Amino acid sequence: MAKKVIITGITGTLGSALGKLYLQRGWTVFGVTRQTMAQHAACSQVVTNLQDGTDDAAALLELQPDLVYLNAGAIEKEIGEMGEPLPELTQSITTINYTFPAVFALAASKTARKPMDIIAIGSIADGSPSAFGPVYHASKVALHYFIQGTSPILGTANPNIKLRLYRPGAIHGPLSWAPVNRLNDKGRTVRAKRCNNAPPAEKVALHIEKFQKSRKWVTNYDEPISFKLLKFFYALAPNQYCRMQHWAWRRASRFRRPDAA
Ligand SMILES: NC(=O)c1ccc[n+]([C@@H]2O[C@H](COP(=O)([O-])OP(=O)(O)OC[C@H]3O[C@@H](n4cnc5c(N)ncnc54)[C@H](OP(=O)(O)O)[C@@H]3O)[C@@H](O)[C@H]2O)c1
Repeated sequence: MAKKVIITGITGTLGSALGKLYLQRGWTVFGVTRQTMAQHAACSQVVTNLQDGTDDAAALLELQPDLVYLNAGAIEKEIGEMGEPLPELTQSITTINYTFPAVFALAASKTARKPMDIIAIGSIADGSPSAFGPVYHASKVALHYFIQGTSPILGTANPNIKLRLYRPGAIHGPLSWAPVNRLNDKGRTVRAKRCNNAPPAEKVALHIEKFQKSRKWVTNYDEPISFKLLKFFYALAPNQYCRMQHWAWRRASRFRRPDAA
């Protein structure tokens, strides 16, 4: 019998590439979306699910998957007048990036009666706070800490559960562009270069499949050295790091104090 994979965020850049790859490999692909649609080219069956809480997690678990990609995610596409996060978006982004994957993993550990590999899709944009994507960074960091913190607990409580984390870098497509909305023109030029050179989702999907077949718990797609250095800087000197963030905001954001000349 064909193996079953659930992929959340099937309509998105990475979800579609993953779905098409697993279809090619002969898997039954359940593609999860909030939208109502009869079918989608990247899956065998569309599953409409809001991914908002324990009932939604239970509904997905009834499909009895062998593999789950908790891939759906969101980034701040709208911001306030001075670049501040919007309360409703902060809540919905945190729910899909962190709370729902966490609730799903907990529900799976209570119900899985056969082996289930659960791979949460995080981000390399995680190791140090950023004024240019604060809600995204915070929710992905929470996801990473939860997955790595609970993986041993849940795997011991229910040996059928394997809870793992994959952290992509920028992927060629719309999401990699989203953090530009707080940047000034100079900042955008730097970011554009990185996005234009980002790998296509199909290439990242192949790397994720390799990870899925491996015995690794966590991996990422090419993390630039600058990200690693920022992480060290943040860990070693958080106050200096925050000073640098204030400096970067003045220099690279498109926002100025209302009373500034
Ligand atoms: N693209 C990048 O550069 C990049 C870099 C690092 C990490 N990642 C991570 O990789 C994953 C996939 O990224 P992607 O580029 O494929 O994103 P994407 O193209 O924006 O697709 C994400 C999908 O998630 C679903 N979604 C969005 N907001 C949601 C919400 N509030 N509740 C439930 N579902 C929601 C949407 O599906 P429906 O509207 O159909 O429900 C959407 O199609 C994300 O977790 C992202 O954080 C991406």
